[in-house]
Amino acid sequence: MAGSADLVGVLKAAGESTRLRLLALLADGEQSVKDLTEILGQSQPRVSRHLKLLADAGLIVRHAEGAWAYYGLAAEGAGGELARWLVTKADEADPERRRDRERLKLVRTQQQAQAADFFAKVAESWDQLRLLHGPEEAVETAVRGVFADRVIDTLFDLGTGTGRMLELLAPCYRRGVGIDTSREMMAVARAKLAGAGIAHAQVRLGDILDLDPGLGRADAVVLHQVLHYFDDPGRLLTQVKTVLNPGGEVLIVDFLPHAHEFLRSHQAHRRLGMSLTQISQWAAQAGLGLVSETVFPPGAVDEGLTVALWHLRALEGQ
Ligand SMILES: C[S@@+](CC[C@H](N)C(=O)[O-])C[C@H]1O[C@@H](n2cnc3c(N)ncnc32)[C@H](O)[C@@H]1O
Repeated sequence: MAGSADLVGVLKAAGESTRLRLLALLADGEQSVKDLTEILGQSQPRVSRHLKLLADAGLIVRHAEGAWAYYGLAAEGAGGELARWLVTKADEADPERRRDRERLKLVRTQQQAQAADFFAKVAESWDQLRLLHGPEEAVETAVRGVFADRVIDTLFDLGTGTGRMLELLAPCYRRGVGIDTSREMMAVARAKLAGAGIAHAQVRLGDILDLDPGLGRADAVVLHQVLHYFDDPGRLLTQVKTVLNPGGEVLIVDFLPHAHEFLRSHQAHRRLGMSLTQISQWAAQAGLGLVSETVFPPGAVDEGLTVALWHLRALEGQ
C-alpha cells in the first residue's frame, strides 16, 4: 500500500515519454546507462537524469558496478508494480518502441561480435589463459564433487569454449552438449574431445540466449565463466530454466564482485562479477533455488579475482 502523495510522485516520474521508453527497454532486462544512452540517442547526463527520477520514485533499481551502472525494473513495491503494468500497456507496434528494440538488438550484436573477436584470437591459448583467472584445480574438484558418483542423462555446457567442462564431467553424463558462438573455440573443443575419446559429447554452434528447441532438455546445465559476458544474467538463467528437466540442476562458476575495469575493455566482460544476493534474485525470478555457494579465495596468479561456485536446482511446480 502507498499513500496518495507517494503515488502522485510515482505517477509523475512515469509520466514522460523518454521515461516510458526507458521502462519498456528495462522490461527486456537489466541495461547499463552506457547502452541506454546509445539506444535512445540522447546525451548521457540527460538519460542519467531520467533514470534517477525513475529510481527515486521506486520504479527501477540501480546497481553500480565499477565505472558503469546497471538499471532494472524494481522487483517489488508500488513503483515496481506500476512499471510492470505500464509496460504491458505499451504498444509493441509503436514505431518508436520498434526502433528502440532494433537499436537494443544492434547494440547486443555489436557486443557479441567484440566477444567473438576476443575468443577467436585466444582460442588456441585459452586453456592456459583460463588458469590465470582462478584457482582452477580447486574449482574443478568442487564442480566434479557436485555429481560425486552420480551419472545423469543429459548435460548442457553453455558457452562451452574449449570444452573443458564436457571433458571434466564426461564420466557424469550419458549425453553431453556444448554450445558456443565461437567457431574457433569450438574447433579446439572438438579436437580435445576427440583426442580424449569422449564420443558421448558434441559441440554445437549457437547463441545460448536463443537455444534451439531441437536440443531437447537437460538434467544439468553448466555455465563456467560465462555469466559475466551478459548484461542481464537473470535473463540467461530464465532461458536456462526453460531447457531444464523437472528437478534439474544448474552449476554456475563465476567471479564475485571485483573492480578490474580493464576486463571490460581487454576481454569483453560486461559484468564485474556477481554477488550471492544477485545470483539468488536472478535464480528466484527464473524459478531456481540455491542449493549451495562455495567461494574460492584467489591464488597467487589470478589477478586477485575470487571465484564462486553456485549450485542451483529447478524449484518444484515452477
Ligand atoms: C570465458 S569463456 C568460458 C569457456 C568455458 N566455459 C571455460 O570455462 O573454459 C566464455 C565463452 O562463452 C561464449 N559465449 C559468449 N556469449 C555467448 C552466447 N551468447 N552464446 C554462446 N556462447 C557464448 C564465448 O564464445 C566463450 O567461448
